[in-house]
Amino acid sequence: MAKDSITLIDNRTGKSYEAAIFYGTYPEYGAAVGAVDLRQLKASEDDFGLMSYDPAFMNTASCQSRITFVDGDKGILRYRGYTIEELAEKSTYLETAYLILYGELPTKAELDQWKHDITFHTILHENIKKFMDGFHHDAHPMGMLVSTVAALSTFYPDAKLIFDAESRKKQTCRLVGKMPTLAAFAYRHSLGMPYAYPDNDLSYTGNFLNMLFKMTEVKYQPDPILEKALDVLFILHADHEQNCSTNAMRSVGSSQADPYCSVAAAAAALYGPLHGGANEAVLKMLSEIGSKGKVPEFIKKVKAGEGRLMGFGHRVYKNYDPRAKIIKQVADQVFEITGRNALLDIALELERIALEDEYFIKRKLYPNVDFYSGIIYQAMGFPVEMFPVLFAIPRTSGWIAQWEEMLLDPEQKISRPRQVYLGPDKRSYLGMEQREASAGEPSPTKPRKAA
Ligand code: CMC
Repeated sequence: MAKDSITLIDNRTGKSYEAAIFYGTYPEYGAAVGAVDLRQLKASEDDFGLMSYDPAFMNTASCQSRITFVDGDKGILRYRGYTIEELAEKSTYLETAYLILYGELPTKAELDQWKHDITFHTILHENIKKFMDGFHHDAHPMGMLVSTVAALSTFYPDAKLIFDAESRKKQTCRLVGKMPTLAAFAYRHSLGMPYAYPDNDLSYTGNFLNMLFKMTEVKYQPDPILEKALDVLFILHADHEQNCSTNAMRSVGSSQADPYCSVAAAAAALYGPLHGGANEAVLKMLSEIGSKGKVPEFIKKVKAGEGRLMGFGHRVYKNYDPRAKIIKQVADQVFEITGRNALLDIALELERIALEDEYFIKRKLYPNVDFYSGIIYQAMGFPVEMFPVLFAIPRTSGWIAQWEEMLLDPEQKISRPRQVYLGPDKRSYLGMEQREASAGEPSPTKPRKAA
């Protein structure tokens, strides 16, 4: 019997089966057995075989990946082996995006070419402005982003050639290049301001600030500290292995939809308050709390089950999110330019009390990436509705890298989970009279547990 295996005994039949264990880079973090191996376990010959049941993917690896490593217990995050701390200190967002997408840090020539390619693709087709103009002035910018990135699919029919490496490269440059432009247009639409076109002399984040905040000046000059701070925030948000939006990207992409529609699906998943919408929710929560003195009362409510402490907790991190640590440092640099955001004191007090409280300690709830990012964004002049958009822009490189990895993985197929069926057995159609007569009787279609 192989050492790296498990033996399963089916107590229904008394038969035993062997299933191989395979490992990732770290044997102690990422050992797995194939769920399909369970299908050997059958109660009878014509039995389908056993499935694994895992709502919300609590313990299911959906792929093998070489992109991002997260050790949630130790609070470690690495892209392609490089620590997030070192990348935040030494790299730029575009360089990091290249690393995530292509596996290695670029040489000088590769980086120059990459910057040129991205810059070349920042401009949007003029017709996109008509889509933007169709939205209400108070439309949420995330809704505008999701819709217009999907609309890009109709401008680039060559995006359907997903198995053509050249086409994938082109769509990658278009998506990474155009996401900031879409986001900035959405922002300016909500203000009723004319759209500002990209300035290709500026850096990726410098140009984004230009498209957002340019007024009547001939040339917009971004504040270098804010430009750098935004760049670091973009590095921190670039990828995070198999989170909800990445899973959406891979799942939709597995049907061989084009990358614009897949990115739209991923951005839609990111929008929710339990994922990338949490930074917006944190700011709303801090504003509602209103003062440091009201923090204990708020914590009491959370512990009583009346709402969540937004920006706290994570499916994978059971320790301080390493991104939150870096963001706290960036906040100090930003506040030197913008002045201190008054909500910071409430956030610090929330963190202090929560980290000493039995409820949060027991559940290993720590600040995540969204807890402090919104405070910085607000100080930089972004309205809260823009916060999830600021998450979606840098995550685009991660989504595309994960999508490409999925497409080229011979083990991947269309993503299609199974289910454990709990509904009624076959029954005959009821005429209206019979339905009227049986109204009020217990129905086999009701869920087992009352909601
Ligand atoms: N405040 C209060 N209690 C919480 C919180 C929170 N923020 N998060 C989890 N819990 C409790 C939860 O009630 C449960 O308690 P009990 O065992 O008594 O039922 C326990 O902790 C485990 O929670 P869970 O919901 O089973 O954990 P999960 O892994 O399904 O959820 C999460 C992870 C991130 C959705 C959740 O922690 C949460 O809702 N946090 C607030 C929203 C947030 O900040 N999201 C951003 C996540 S990081 C960036 C990103 O992914 O975009």
